[in-house]
Amino acid sequence: MRHSPNIDASQQALRVMVLSGPNLDRLGKREPSIYGTATLQDIHRRLEALSQEQGVIVDCRQSNHEGDLLDWIGLAADGAAEGILINPGALTHTSYALYDAVRSALIPTIEVHLSNPYAREEFRRKSVVVPACLGSIAGFGAMSYQLAFLGLVDHLRTIAQSRPIVSGTRQP
Ligand code: DQA
Repeated sequence: MRHSPNIDASQQALRVMVLSGPNLDRLGKREPSIYGTATLQDIHRRLEALSQEQGVIVDCRQSNHEGDLLDWIGLAADGAAEGILINPGALTHTSYALYDAVRSALIPTIEVHLSNPYAREEFRRKSVVVPACLGSIAGFGAMSYQLAFLGLVDHLRTIAQSRPIVSGTRQP
């Protein structure tokens, strides 16, 4: 799902890519006592509303395939976004490929979880991806995505302000 609010390109609006991994397309039907009743589409709609309020461009994507997530992180790293939110689903606990991709992307990335994996089964208590991330938000249900989005945008604005302005343009 894509979203491009009415922002003049010259304003250089921040762009955030929001990635969700395996089984997150099943939200709403999938173990609602753990993950809640909001669908991923609901979550994306809330992020779109929030991004409009914030004057940020958000690009929300989901795949059940690890390779798609890797390709999209590469796309973001190559200039499609200034920051990434990622809920890697169960790949959180296994994917060194995602760790490598996030680490080499060199753009601020936040890991997001609806549930609190640390309060669940043993295998969920370790994320192999989060060491490559700026931070993580977990345990707030669908709201985790919004909290992570606001935290990431605040961080991106802070680092943008600390870059020097030369000839009227802030340097990359
Ligand atoms: C999850 C937690 C993971 O352990 C699980 O495999 C998921 C969802 C979450 O958002 O709480 O698929 O990432």
